[in-house]
Amino acid sequence: MRVDKDYIRAKQDRLTEQIITMPASTHILVTGGAGYIGSHTALALLQAGFDVTVIDNLSNSSDESLKRVARIAGKAPRFVKADIRDREQLNAVFGMQPVNAVIHFAGLKAVGESVQVPLRYYDNNVAGTLRLCEAMAEHGVFTLVFSSSATVYGDPATVPIREDQPLGTPTNPYGRSKLMIEQMLTDLAASDARWHVALLRYFNPVGAHESGLMGEDPNGIPNNLLPYIAQVAAGKLRELSVFGNDYPTADGTGVRDYIHVVDLAEGHLSALNALKARPGVSVWNLGTGQGYSVLEMIRAFELASGKTIPFRIAPRRAGDIAMCFADASRAEIELGWRARRRLKAMMEDTWRWQAGNPEGYRTKP
Ligand code: NAD
Ligand code: UFG
Repeated sequence: MRVDKDYIRAKQDRLTEQIITMPASTHILVTGGAGYIGSHTALALLQAGFDVTVIDNLSNSSDESLKRVARIAGKAPRFVKADIRDREQLNAVFGMQPVNAVIHFAGLKAVGESVQVPLRYYDNNVAGTLRLCEAMAEHGVFTLVFSSSATVYGDPATVPIREDQPLGTPTNPYGRSKLMIEQMLTDLAASDARWHVALLRYFNPVGAHESGLMGEDPNGIPNNLLPYIAQVAAGKLRELSVFGNDYPTADGTGVRDYIHVVDLAEGHLSALNALKARPGVSVWNLGTGQGYSVLEMIRAFELASGKTIPFRIAPRRAGDIAMCFADASRAEIELGWRARRRLKAMMEDTWRWQAGNPEGYRTKP
């Protein structure tokens, strides 16, 4: 597909103006807003003039992230410690002040853990989303932006992956919970024309806010590549295990589409804006369209941090695929959004966050 860049840029400028001039009374409820992507999105919303309420049960986060949001934005989001599975708590939140739309990040996301305790994942993610939708409908709120994942494509037959490619079979309960939620939301929107739903399929979110005040704060030993590399660089972990170097990729290691978390956050604002004119379900990949291998990531991090990352080649990790990167053109055309931050910024911002906050949000300022 040919993409007219000038057209898109002009559209994007208009879109930025629209977002910035959004009336302050537009009230967005952000579930899971104390977490990694949610906190960066809450910040972007506040900076664009939205009124923001975060609900989070803090099962995988702390409210320190929201204090940092307030420090950067110069104003704080409203915060309610609540669980999305608790209808009474949800009713209280929706009853406080009219909500215009919900951005729904709350959920559990550890792939390995989901294999050990699948019911916890189906309960939190699937039943939690179901309860949230019930409460939304009861309170007359029908605009929902949902955090889906490229995991719904399973092992893609071809890359780059387009949204209309057949969905695959996710290899674990976490991935299946995302697929089930997508299906549930599609059925819901088909049943009632008032719903406007965005399914945002994230590729691999990385990086941190450029201030160095906010970033990813995984519990225990990180599962994901970049937080692991950052902790090796900081001397907290000894070496990185590279999971397989015999994949059918240029250097044999896995290739992914890493997207800066601030770009990702901005994609939510663009989706919210587009949803106004889009009843039903809209699906957008949020990725850069560019894949990098594990070895390329190590080299890029070494350059950005000035540190050496010791690594060894280990066996493949169960359930991993060789290559996953987006065809990001639909979001570019329909949302006027594209990821702007390059690999260098992803690495430098991750390192600034890691070096300045060795204990994550537990680091004393
Ligand atoms: P995160 O764990 O940092 O944030 C999720 C937040 O939801 C946490 O603050 C947690 O405390 C909260 N939460 C969990 N269950 C809850 C419940 N029942 N009620 C209220 N709050 C609850 O994760 P993240 O990386 O910011 O991911 C956000 C969303 O994006 C998740 O739905 C995740 O599945 C999805 N996603 C993440 C990635 C990724 O690699 N980070 C990739 C694709 C999709
Ligand atoms: N990797 C290593 N060593 C590590 C960690 C990862 O070599 O210690 C490799 C993996 O094998 C893979 C790449 O680095 O090739 C990226 O791995 P991540 O764990 O960072 O990310 P994944 O692509 O495996 O998983 C991510 C999210 C999942 C989501 C999936 C598909 O973490 O939640 O993308 O969207 F389901």
